Amino acid sequence: MSTEPLDVPKQENWSSKLGVVLAVSGSAVGLGNFLRFPGQAVNNGGGAFMIPYIISFLVLGVPIAWCEWAMGRLGGRYGQNNAPGIFYAMWRRAPAKGLGALALLIPVVIYMYYVLLEAWCLDYCVFFIQGGFASLFAEAGGGAAEHGAVVEKVIGATGEHFNTACGLTEHGALFTGSGRMIWLILACFLVNFLVIYQGVTRGIEWFCKWAMPLLILCAVIILVRVLTLPNISTGLGFMWNPQWSSLTDPQVWLAASGQIFFSLSVGFGIILCYSSYLRKDDDVVLTALSASSTNEFCEVILGGLIVVPTAFLFLGASNVEGMGTFDIGFITIPAIMHFMPGGSFFGAMWFGLLFLAAVTSSLSMLQPAIAFLEDGFGLKRRGSVAILGVVTALGAAPIIYFSKGSLALAHADFWCNFCMILAATGTVFIFGWVIGAERGVREMNRGADFQVPRFVAFVIRYVTPTFLIVILVAWTATNAGDYIDGMNPAKCGLSAERDTYATAITEHFAEAELSTDELAAKITGLLGAEEQTLEVAALPDWLQTAQRKAQDAAAAGRADANIARFVFIGIVSIFILLVVLSDIACRNRIGRSIDAAERDGVAFEEAAS
Ligand code: PFF
Repeated sequence: MSTEPLDVPKQENWSSKLGVVLAVSGSAVGLGNFLRFPGQAVNNGGGAFMIPYIISFLVLGVPIAWCEWAMGRLGGRYGQNNAPGIFYAMWRRAPAKGLGALALLIPVVIYMYYVLLEAWCLDYCVFFIQGGFASLFAEAGGGAAEHGAVVEKVIGATGEHFNTACGLTEHGALFTGSGRMIWLILACFLVNFLVIYQGVTRGIEWFCKWAMPLLILCAVIILVRVLTLPNISTGLGFMWNPQWSSLTDPQVWLAASGQIFFSLSVGFGIILCYSSYLRKDDDVVLTALSASSTNEFCEVILGGLIVVPTAFLFLGASNVEGMGTFDIGFITIPAIMHFMPGGSFFGAMWFGLLFLAAVTSSLSMLQPAIAFLEDGFGLKRRGSVAILGVVTALGAAPIIYFSKGSLALAHADFWCNFCMILAATGTVFIFGWVIGAERGVREMNRGADFQVPRFVAFVIRYVTPTFLIVILVAWTATNAGDYIDGMNPAKCGLSAERDTYATAITEHFAEAELSTDELAAKITGLLGAEEQTLEVAALPDWLQTAQRKAQDAAAAGRADANIARFVFIGIVSIFILLVVLSDIACRNRIGRSIDAAERDGVAFEEAAS
C-alpha cells in the first residue's frame, strides 16, 4: 500500500462536553419525541406501552449507544469520522464496508423525507403567526353552539387545511398550488446546509447550543400551561392508564423497539459520526447517558404529557385513538389551539419548537455523509456540501411530488426502519464479537466519569443481539408481506377494484338492511371467485357505474404500487452506489489513513489499556 502523505485536514473536535451532549441530544430530540411517541403510546396500550419501551431502552437503546460512542471515539483516532472508515478500522473485512454504507444510507434517506416534515412544521408556525388558523377557526366555529359540533367543524377545517397545505390529496399538488410549501422546503434546505457548511463546532455545535435550550424552554412553558388546565387529569388518565392485555401483542413490542431506535437516533451511524469528533480521553459513558436521558425527558415528559392529554380534554377520545402520527400532529394539535386559552400564541410556539427540534435532527442526518465525502475522497467542505445538497434534493423531489396520502414518504420510512434494525445488529456484532465485548467495554471505560459495569459486556455480546434478531424476524414476519404486496401492481389493482365494488354493493343494499352475513353473501355472489371478472353487458346500471369507479380505483392502486416500487428501487440503488463508494474509499484513502494511524501506534489494545 502506498505511503504517500495524506493531505488530511486537521480533525475537528467538539469544543465542550455540553456541546457534544446538546448536539447528540439535538439529533435524538425531534419529531419522533413530540409527535411519534404520543401516537405510538396511546395506540399501543397507553401506560402499558412503557414496559416494552423501558425494556427496549435498557436492552437496546443504552447498550447500542455505548457501543457507538466507544467505537466512534476510537474511529476518530484512526482519523475516521465516517461509518465505513470507522467500521473498517475495527474490522478489515468486506462486510464492514457494506455496514458502513448502510450507516450512511439510513440518515441520508431519512433526510429526504424528514426535511418535508420540517417544512410542514415551519409552515404551521408561520401560519399561526399570520393568524391563519384563527380565521380558519372563526369560519369553522361560527354558528355551531354545541361543543361536539364545534369540535367536528374545527377538526374538519384543520383536516382540510392539512390536506391542502401538505398536498395530500393529489400527487404533484405542492407544485401546482401556491408553491408556498416548496419555498418553505427550500428554506429548510438552506438553513440545514448553511449550518452544516460551517462545520461541526462552528455549525452544528453552535446551533444546538442555543436551539436545544430554547426548544426545551418552549416545551416546558407549554407543559405548564397544559398542566394548569382545569380537568387535565382526565386527559392524563386517558393517556397513561395501562391496558395490560396489550403486552401480549407482538406489535406493541415492535412499536416500542422501533420508537427507541428512531427516537434515540441509535444504531445507524449518527452517534458513531458525532462521537468520532471526541478526543481520546473524553468521557463517553456518562455523556452517552446524559444525551439519552435528555431525549427521554423530552419524549416521555414533554412529548407524553402535552399532546394526547390535551387532545383528549378538548376533543374527546375519538379524535385521538387510532389516529396516526401525522393526523395527531397536524390535524388534532392545531384544533386543540382553538379551545386552549392563548391558543394562537401556544400554537406558534409549539410548531416553532418542533421546527427547531427537526433542524437539530436533520443536521445529524447530513454530517455522516459529509464526513464520508471528506475523509473518503478528500473533498473540501464546499464540494461535499454541494454534492450532498444535490443528491438529497434529487431524492427529496419524488417524495415531495408523490405527496398523495404521503405515500412515498411512508414507504421510505418503512424501509429505513427496517434498515435501522439491520444496521444496529451489525454494529453490536462488530462491537461484541469482532472487537470483543470485554475489550470494547475496557475501551468504553477509558476516561469515563464512571465505569460501565462488567455485565454490560455480557448484555452486548448476547442479550442485545438476541433481542435484535427476534425483532428483525418478528418485524419481517408481520410487516414485510404487506409491503411487498404493496409493490405489486396487479395485486394492488385487484384489491382496490374489489374494495370499490364492495363499497358500491354495500351502499346499494343499504336500504334493504341486510345482515352482515347476507351482505357478505351478496358481495361474494356478485364478485364471484377471486379471479373472476365481471361482464359489463350483464350488469344492472348501478353495477356498471361501480365498475367504472372500480376500474379507476384499480388504475390508482397500480399507480400506488409503482410508486412503492420506485421508492424501494431508489433506496436499493443508493445503497449499491454507497457500497461501491465505500469500497473504493476503503481501498484507497481511508485504508491508507488507517494504515498510517496504525503505524503511529493507534491500536485497540493500546487504546484499551
Ligand atoms: N431522532 C429523531 C427524532 O426523534 O425525530 C429522528 C432522527 C434523527 C432519525 C436522526 C434519524 C436520524 F438520523
